[in-house]
Amino acid sequence: MNKTTKITVSIVGGSGYAGGELLRILSQHPRVSIKSVTSRQHQGKKVTLLHPNLRGFLDHLRFCSIDQLTKSDLLFLALPNLKAMNNLDQYLNLGQKIIDLSADFRLKDPDQYVKWYQIKHPRPQYLKKFICGLAEIHGPQIKKAQYVSCAGCEATCSILSFYPLLKEKIINDREIYIDAKIGSSAAGNQPALATHHPERSGSFRSYQPTGHRHTAEFLQQTQARNLYLSATAVEMVRGILITGQARLKNTDINERDLRKIYRNYYGNQPFIRIIKERQGLYRYPEPKIVAGTNFCDIGFAIQANSRRLVVIATIDNLVKGTAGQAVQAMNLMFNFPQTTALEFQGLHPI
Ligand SMILES: NC(=O)c1ccc[n+]([C@@H]2O[C@H](COP(=O)([O-])OP(=O)(O)OC[C@H]3O[C@@H](n4cnc5c(N)ncnc54)[C@H](OP(=O)(O)O)[C@@H]3O)[C@@H](O)[C@H]2O)c1
Repeated sequence: MNKTTKITVSIVGGSGYAGGELLRILSQHPRVSIKSVTSRQHQGKKVTLLHPNLRGFLDHLRFCSIDQLTKSDLLFLALPNLKAMNNLDQYLNLGQKIIDLSADFRLKDPDQYVKWYQIKHPRPQYLKKFICGLAEIHGPQIKKAQYVSCAGCEATCSILSFYPLLKEKIINDREIYIDAKIGSSAAGNQPALATHHPERSGSFRSYQPTGHRHTAEFLQQTQARNLYLSATAVEMVRGILITGQARLKNTDINERDLRKIYRNYYGNQPFIRIIKERQGLYRYPEPKIVAGTNFCDIGFAIQANSRRLVVIATIDNLVKGTAGQAVQAMNLMFNFPQTTALEFQGLHPI
């Protein structure tokens, strides 16, 4: 492919929050031509009606039905969980390559779908064909992949921050505790009582103290033996902050060693930043600093004279947690520079 040729892409589920974020990022991509975008409820309407931030950028584009989709080089699936898996054949015919944002192809063992989603997976033979979209861990495989499945948002933040520690075997992998605080956009744009403004506004709601489905992704990706994950909905639109706790195996490990481990794993990764400052207001990762960006900011602290390690990490759930992760994977799949269209640094103050 010559260096100016554009690839064609289409999106199934373009009226949702993840689809909207895909459109925002792709509209800035010099090597992408957006062909078609679906919405069953808004078919025929301009995409800028649902995504007003894209006025002046995608004014020509209208939502179409799935039957009107044209075959593209790449098809993004941005549907609610457990939908794409039932219409996979149709989608396979519409994209030479596919990136799925849902949970439908994340877990490699079909029994895990019975355990965590209470369903029998209809296409188990495809589970291993979908490569996990975390470029920092699966970059070489993504480059060669035909199908990619993006990790869940809490899973992305948790996996990226704990992966080096578990690979280096410096923490007890049976005792990892993660508390994830998450903004309202993670629930998608369909109205529901739990996300209705009078109920959600001002709340600090523990909605998944145990049994969070992203536990399965974390265990699969890190090979840890156990994870205690809890999730709390907080007063934010975008963003996830995780506070993870683990026990170091060895009291000799200090914060300089941890910094070195993270640097070894992520030193060349453009979207991972290690945040641990001695001074200032923002000494540890904070969601508003990464809002709109593809960064995963990771910080840590060891309690003095103990083996207690605290890991703090943050992402924008709609960017690194889904659409940005997907575009980063797309860049690798099509041999574009990995950071293309993802260079936004964020805002301050915000
Ligand atoms: N929101 C996040 O922060 C986030 C983070 C990580 C991963 N994800 C994943 O990304 C996916 C999309 O999430 P979202 O937050 O964007 O959800 P959303 O706001 O509810 O959007 C869902 C989209 O899918 C379409 N849709 C719904 N059911 C469909 C069906 N049966 N067939 C075809 N299209 C259908 C909807 O439009 P119509 O109903 O008009 O067709 C809409 O465009 C989910 O799988 C989610 O797990 C989301």
